[in-house]
Amino acid sequence: MNSDPGKHILCIGAGYVGGPTMAVIADKCPEYTVTIVDINEQRIEQWQSDSLPIYEPGLNEVVERTRDRNLFFSTDIENAIRAADIIFVSVNTPTKTFGEGAGKAADLQYWEKTARTIARIADSNKVVVEKSTLPLRTARAMERILEANKKGLHFDVLSNPEFLAEGTAINDLNDPDRVLIGSRQTERGLKARQALVDIFAHWVPTEKIITSNVWSAELSKLTANAFLAQRISSINSISALCEKSEADIEEVAAAIGKDRRIGSRFLKASVGFGGSCFKKDILNLVYICEHYGLNEVARYWESVVNLNEFQHRRFVQTMLKTMFNTIAGKRIALFGFAFKADTGDTRESPAIYIARKLVDEHAQVIVTDPEALANAKRDLRDISYAIEFADDPYKAAQDAHAIAVVTEWSEYTALDYQKIFETMQHPAFIFDGRNILDHKALHKIGFNVFPIGKPALKYF
Ligand code: UDX
Ligand code: ADP
Repeated sequence: MNSDPGKHILCIGAGYVGGPTMAVIADKCPEYTVTIVDINEQRIEQWQSDSLPIYEPGLNEVVERTRDRNLFFSTDIENAIRAADIIFVSVNTPTKTFGEGAGKAADLQYWEKTARTIARIADSNKVVVEKSTLPLRTARAMERILEANKKGLHFDVLSNPEFLAEGTAINDLNDPDRVLIGSRQTERGLKARQALVDIFAHWVPTEKIITSNVWSAELSKLTANAFLAQRISSINSISALCEKSEADIEEVAAAIGKDRRIGSRFLKASVGFGGSCFKKDILNLVYICEHYGLNEVARYWESVVNLNEFQHRRFVQTMLKTMFNTIAGKRIALFGFAFKADTGDTRESPAIYIARKLVDEHAQVIVTDPEALANAKRDLRDISYAIEFADDPYKAAQDAHAIAVVTEWSEYTALDYQKIFETMQHPAFIFDGRNILDHKALHKIGFNVFPIGKPALKYF
């Protein structure tokens, strides 16, 4: 191992954020030693194997280049803390499922355990970097826990929120729109901030490395996710109106996206957003607003989540209504289970809601997905009697009454739908929850086609 002073980086939490972020830091900063630890032994074993625990385009190559060179995976958290100069904390902070704030506030138990472990084990000063998305003022709480050590040690806590999106993580890390570092404005705080700037300056242009106070950095992450999610709920709300009128959501999105003040990205109407961040972060924001008595602000952001749930519900209701108000005993193939394309992650995926609702209606659901079947099996374990899994989309669609496209995997646009149509039950339905297929061509083959926010193409 490299032993340059100041150049030992540790990341606690080897998940979707910690893994790719540290792999890229190790890649770009060969003179630093980067260690990633996790309490989950199986996860660490997977990181050490040829079959990484997460699917992310380009990740294998970066890990192959750096692993055992200056990137190390371990379960020995205590020794890794002792050796580290800079500690990134990237453990999970799910929404609380119990007690005060259940369903909204963040569950900080993993994060607090980590802070206490650092305070207990450390025998030298450390810079501690908050990477997990956390409720406002968590950095302050982390400082308090760390300061409570009786060893006279000093910990500088920075907030460095991660803006990468899954499926494009490696590109986002290699070429970020910005890197944000929040610190205290004291001499020590600024010195700690510089240690982090020095790392990112290896590959990020300095004008893209922005600094702020700690609270602004924390709130910026919640706000960025709230704004992004709000755009999707906004376009999805209009998609519902399009389905009632003769407007077409893609034409509307293209027209408004031309306005440079609005911009064209993140205007894709869909079955609704999923993922580990949007819902959790908005509910977190709602909880904080309520805490400060800002009830109108809380309701405003909460409506983004409500609209998203409406969009999930609407999708299933359309299926039910158009399939003659009964899907009991019918076979329905879900094309895609991940919350977006190019990831195997299914956290908060609309597919979970859709599969469950279809099973409530006594449908038989066949799930196919190129990367997410293992997670899908876990998510649907309790209703496995009504679910089948198929690697091959052609097999999934065989004998099915309907196909529902839930994830925008590009391979679904390249399938032979004539062949699929011939193996299905008739009348055959396609519900395109991502508007990725060629609807006119499908209709010509004989399908009844129901896109999002566009007129249906049907034979009755
Ligand atoms: C998001 C933020 O983009 C990222 O900056 C933050 O760090 C973490 O949260 P992620 O959840 O990985 O990233 O994926 P993202 O690309 O934002 O997509 C979230 C959801 O919105 C997906 O379900 C996606 O399918 C959906 N979406 C996105 C739409 O329905 N329409 C769109 O136009 C864009
Ligand atoms: P994210 O998407 O934020 O990266 P993940 O759930 O993918 O979230 O990753 C978080 C990781 O943090 C998990 O692998 C989990 O095992 C790990 N973790 C949670 N608590 C601790 C802890 N106290 N010490 C080390 N790792 C932890």
